Amino acid sequence: MCGIVGYVGGREAREVLIDGLKRLEYRGYDSAGLALGSGEDLLIFKEVGKVVELERMLQEVPAGSHQGIGHTRWATHGGVSQVNAHPHKDGSGRFAVVHNGIIENYSELKDELEREGVIFLSQTDTEAIVHLVATSFSRTGDILETLVYLQKRLRGTFALALMWQDRPNSIYAIRRGSPLVLGSSEGEAFCASDIPAFLPYTRRVQYLEEGDIAEASPSGIKIWDEKGRPVERPVVTVDWDVTLTGKSGFSHYMLKEIYEQGAALRRSLKGRVVDGKTTVSRELGWNVEMVSKWKKIHIVACGSSYYSALAAERLLEKWTDLEIKVDIASEYRYRHIPCDTSTLAVFVSQSGETADTLAALRKAKAGGAHCLAITNVSSSTMAREVHSLLLLEAGPEIGVAATKSFTSQLAALFMVALQLGSMRGSLAPHEEERLVDELVRIPHKVELLLEKESEVREIARKYTGSKNMLFIGRGMSFPVAQEGALKLKEISYIHAEALAAGEMKHGPIALLEPEMPVLAVIPRDSLYEKTLSNMQEIKARNASLIAVCTEGDSLVPEQAGSVIEIPWTAEEFTPFLTVIPLQFLSFHIGSILGREIDQPRNLAKSVTVE
Ligand code: AGP
Repeated sequence: MCGIVGYVGGREAREVLIDGLKRLEYRGYDSAGLALGSGEDLLIFKEVGKVVELERMLQEVPAGSHQGIGHTRWATHGGVSQVNAHPHKDGSGRFAVVHNGIIENYSELKDELEREGVIFLSQTDTEAIVHLVATSFSRTGDILETLVYLQKRLRGTFALALMWQDRPNSIYAIRRGSPLVLGSSEGEAFCASDIPAFLPYTRRVQYLEEGDIAEASPSGIKIWDEKGRPVERPVVTVDWDVTLTGKSGFSHYMLKEIYEQGAALRRSLKGRVVDGKTTVSRELGWNVEMVSKWKKIHIVACGSSYYSALAAERLLEKWTDLEIKVDIASEYRYRHIPCDTSTLAVFVSQSGETADTLAALRKAKAGGAHCLAITNVSSSTMAREVHSLLLLEAGPEIGVAATKSFTSQLAALFMVALQLGSMRGSLAPHEEERLVDELVRIPHKVELLLEKESEVREIARKYTGSKNMLFIGRGMSFPVAQEGALKLKEISYIHAEALAAGEMKHGPIALLEPEMPVLAVIPRDSLYEKTLSNMQEIKARNASLIAVCTEGDSLVPEQAGSVIEIPWTAEEFTPFLTVIPLQFLSFHIGSILGREIDQPRNLAKSVTVE
């Protein structure tokens, strides 16, 4: 995934673009670049590394440009190099393009263009776009006709911003399959992959639809559909608080977002669990007749979102009579799984832009399923393509590692499960009341637990030299063990693996040795004794044990060298609490190792390419 930004107006373009790229850096940071209009020609500046490297390069460049496009890259086609960094120009230097997405037929286009004498400088698919623009413009002489033709030729996904030397007061933008929003205010206009890029300058936003072509200029924004017909897109005023996208004094976004979880959960629950009942059916547009028709539920996601779905699976089994299937999106989209009007298909995605999850959504929708998105971004592609939408309300999550979005996804999924159980009559009212009564206490219990950060930091110090770590858990704790292993991998780069605790003796126990720490997620629940036995087996083989257990536990400390205690909660809701120490553990091990916590190597906040 990459971040693109464009600006035209009275400000110093490079300042707006650099500021915007820094706000989009969570989307990818292998290299960065920008093109500035300077009247005579388009000046290109690009550098490997993060935006700050590009900023350094620009210090020598004279000011005075008021038109530009910028890009921060997560490499797909072509390695990380200056020549592969965006923007890319055509041979004549009259056009420059930045792109987020993947052009699936780029080899075919490249062959065709090379036969016409075009010389490629990079290994990127994006370069084929700018050459195609130049060659078709030389035939048509009309920019809109050229961009309509471009869409006909390109296969794949693309959000594009384009500059044309002959239009020093315009930026062109096209959106298909990758997010692109427009911003405008008096005498200036913006385009970007995501709203935070230009939020300090304007709150007036227009969302492009699939296939839309736009021309943004200081006098306003014109939009056409993919056939070149003028269209109107509503201007909305976003009420995001700009400070929400800052670090508010924390060292890293990840730490800030770990601490925000109590407040984020309160926002996720607000108005949705009232007087012992779940009320999300209203915003989902569900009625009893509709809900009674469903026979199965598919939940599809990637990464941390998949692990929150696995936790929900166990509760849906308990609270509903539905047949449940939870799958990884990149698998689900290619499998032959029956899906029809009797299916409720749920797509969990913080960004609402993950390519595999989006493809799975479109497959299920085509199959006739009722599609529900659980996402944190109301303007996301997923949010706009489903039948029902449940927003996390967690506030922007900038750190690449999912933290508050994971616990808010748990809350959203659990409310959906409660709602399905109560509407289908498979969950008794008194049981729903018991559960809701505990659910509304979770935000406070999370906040109590956040006070244990320093305890976890001390434990983290012991494990910064580890090369591997095992995470084990049963029932509701197994998905948490999986999430904890992922956090450690993506933040500290230490290899970690999660196992169902009962699986240890089926092979993995052979791995045990003093250098192989094992973290057991063992709250007081119905499987506690089983996991305690596993801990005894592990201890007997001299591996070092860390444990996350319920306050007051006297048996676990006999097995584990390091213990983090969590407040008691109902078995169904232990994931909200057991995950917090794992978030802190990965953060502190990563910090001690000097890792790029908010922007780990090779990662991006949302993977909008397959
Ligand atoms: C989680 O820490 C990772 N950043 C990653 O696994 C993430 O959960 C996954 O890419 C899914 O992203 P989404 O929720 O935006 O779809």
